Amino acid sequence: MSVAAAPIAARIEAGTGAMPRHVAIIMDGNGRWAKKRMLPRAMGHKKGVEAVRNIVRAAGELGLEALSLYAFSSENWKRPEDEISDLMGLMRTFIKSDIDEFAANDVRLKIIGNYKALAPDIVEMLDDALARTAHNTRTTLAVALNYGSQDELVRAAQAAAAQGAITIEAIEANLDTTDMPPLDLLIRTSGEQRLSNFMLWQAAYAEFWFTDTLWPDFNKAELARALDEFAGRQSEDAVLLKPRSDLGIRTLSGVIMMSGAIAAIWWGGYAFMALVIVVGLGVYWEFSKLVVSFTKSNLSRLAWLLGGMVYVGLACFTLLLFSAPFFGKIVTVVLIAGVVGTDVGAYFAGRAIGGPKIAPKISPSKTWSGLAGGMLGAGLLMIAAQKTFNLDYTFVYSPSFTLVAGAALAAVAQAGDFFESWMKRRAGVKDSGRLIPGHGGLFDRTDGLIAVAFVLGLISLGQQLFL
Ligand code: FPP
Repeated sequence: MSVAAAPIAARIEAGTGAMPRHVAIIMDGNGRWAKKRMLPRAMGHKKGVEAVRNIVRAAGELGLEALSLYAFSSENWKRPEDEISDLMGLMRTFIKSDIDEFAANDVRLKIIGNYKALAPDIVEMLDDALARTAHNTRTTLAVALNYGSQDELVRAAQAAAAQGAITIEAIEANLDTTDMPPLDLLIRTSGEQRLSNFMLWQAAYAEFWFTDTLWPDFNKAELARALDEFAGRQSEDAVLLKPRSDLGIRTLSGVIMMSGAIAAIWWGGYAFMALVIVVGLGVYWEFSKLVVSFTKSNLSRLAWLLGGMVYVGLACFTLLLFSAPFFGKIVTVVLIAGVVGTDVGAYFAGRAIGGPKIAPKISPSKTWSGLAGGMLGAGLLMIAAQKTFNLDYTFVYSPSFTLVAGAALAAVAQAGDFFESWMKRRAGVKDSGRLIPGHGGLFDRTDGLIAVAFVLGLISLGQQLFL
């Protein structure tokens, strides 16, 4: 069989996990390709650029989420001056001639490495290309320019230290590849089998695939072969070695957590009060731990701890107030329906539509379409909750009012979510705690609800004070 394209197409169709999400290639052998044909090295690089063009197209066609290409290492400056100048010239032509195709094919260009040290006209062209393709989502093409993995790691560790703590998560958050999927497969052409200072950290769990083919001859058929072999290697052992979330434990702890919360809301009274107090204290404990790891002076630590007390405290007080007899538990149920609707709507709209991200440095997966979906989802689920529990449709409970209220609630819930993600980024951790197996901490699970309850508390206070 010439190309193993059929199995790949079938895997894409089936949506199975055997497709790598992120492939990186050390493109090697341009010089040898030229030498074999008694051509100048520059011709090898020129053919190499054609191979780059074909492989970027193939990556999109084969359904890869991300492709990283090692185009110019920080050590490449040691090459003869005229070869460097040839490579830079090719870079200019490549950006000029290919950027329109990237933009049209939903490819997002990304540069890893210190590209700002390249010639000013190239930096300008790259910045323009980055801006033009920033909102594309189909495939991310990361081109490594003036890149060295050791240098990237030093920079990431320094940034993590400046933010508070050097942890795995903090380093990952500061790598050049931070908003890309984990590296699954690393390919090197031309028969060499070294990493050459490329993606040392990212390759921790990657499969390696080597071929004798010289880079200018590398094509879609060979990429497809590598993907097929990757799929074949996904034995149970390989999968088990990768850090992964355990679906069984996640589901079980999710069900226990949700049933406990629903039962306490339903019983109301002391059960609900106990739930709010216990969860509130747990959230504040996790909040304090995050604060301790990212604050540097005692004064800012104190200010954050007091601020957190007001934030979490007022949110819990508001929830307790809303469960008081004159409101009835329905208000709490509708509120929670809004927060759940936000998450569900955001998840489905984000996956189905995708599009530009809101703040990828804080939360890489949140998109504007997800926010819009969350706003709609909140309103719809709140209407469903009101109808289910026969809440009177008086003026304030008209469906159109609920849709508007749901949209506002979702915006606040997402802001709360971002706030918590931002705190975690600063503290260099992935989860706020480990209390709920497979789901992280209490603050992770309640960030949106706390923000909503806090804002409602502020509004109620304002009403008390000024009306
Ligand atoms: C190694 O070949 C390859 C490179 C120096 C990097 C690859 C560069 C390109 C494909 C051209 C520019 C890329 C873009 C994205 C425009 P080598 O010269 O080391 O080969 P040899 O080991 O056979 O001498």
